[in-house]
Amino acid sequence: MSASKDVPDLTNPAESWSTASTSYAERVGRMSRHAANHLIHISHDLHPFRVPGSYVLDNGAGTGPLTDAVTELFPGIRVLAADVAPGMLETLDAKQIHNVTTRVADASELNNVAALGTDASFTHAFSTFMVMFTLEPLNVVREMHRVLEPGGLIGLGIWGERLGPNTLWEEACQTLDPTYKLPSPFADPNAWRTEDEIAQAFTQLGFKEIHTEIYKVPFEFENTAAYLKFWYGAKNPVADRFKLSFKGDQEEAKKALEKVLKERYNDAKSIFVETVLAIGRK
Ligand SMILES: C[S@@+](CC[C@H](N)C(=O)[O-])C[C@H]1O[C@@H](n2cnc3c(N)ncnc32)[C@H](O)[C@@H]1O
Repeated sequence: MSASKDVPDLTNPAESWSTASTSYAERVGRMSRHAANHLIHISHDLHPFRVPGSYVLDNGAGTGPLTDAVTELFPGIRVLAADVAPGMLETLDAKQIHNVTTRVADASELNNVAALGTDASFTHAFSTFMVMFTLEPLNVVREMHRVLEPGGLIGLGIWGERLGPNTLWEEACQTLDPTYKLPSPFADPNAWRTEDEIAQAFTQLGFKEIHTEIYKVPFEFENTAAYLKFWYGAKNPVADRFKLSFKGDQEEAKKALEKVLKERYNDAKSIFVETVLAIGRK
């Protein structure tokens, strides 16, 4: 079978991410969780969490890896988890974590994000692996600045420039068509990918004590078969975008992917993702 559709443009995040929610929690969420844990630890060093006292925003929470990380380390901490995709939040709601509430909100529309709260009230505002999917990341971060109390902490995570699942798909397709190039995984091809881009945005908005770092996390699979199940069964909008961008034979691409995973990625046990983490204070 060869793909004939154009690459999907990810313009309907609510629907496409809701469909991905279960498999997302299982695989991508586990990867995000490693980064979230680290982000929570470095944030605690700069602006300690207190129970009671702290009020944490998890903006674009998805199925809640960051909410899980902060509530496990600080049981009882108050969290508002917001996301544009109701399906993602349903998975989070089902965990019934004490003091965690959820709200459907589109972070790219300032008016809706203002629904997060009219007063600046959060002690900590996080967003992990979401702003790259919006066309106006600066607006999202500006709004997070607005809802933070003075001295409050912002913590941001984005995917960096080296992403295992993307690279290995490109490698596989290039064994069939050496001219194949990956499309950007994001709606905006100029989406933030580097420490500098976040640091500049934070500085522009007046954040201080800015710290950025590259943090490498494993993307964990038991073996190649488990990876193929994820890649072909997950309905992840990013994976679907890549698959459709390869115009050759999809069955051949699947075989090539299997070979690359076995031969170059230790039977899918050595896949890593580079994340860019940043914190700062209002
Ligand atoms: C890659 S997931 C990251 C989820 C989670 N924060 C994590 O660390 O795993 C991207 C999330 O951003 C959400 N999202 C995408 N566009 C959004 C928008 N404009 N406003 C709010 N959430 C959005 C998606 O629904 C999805 O849950």
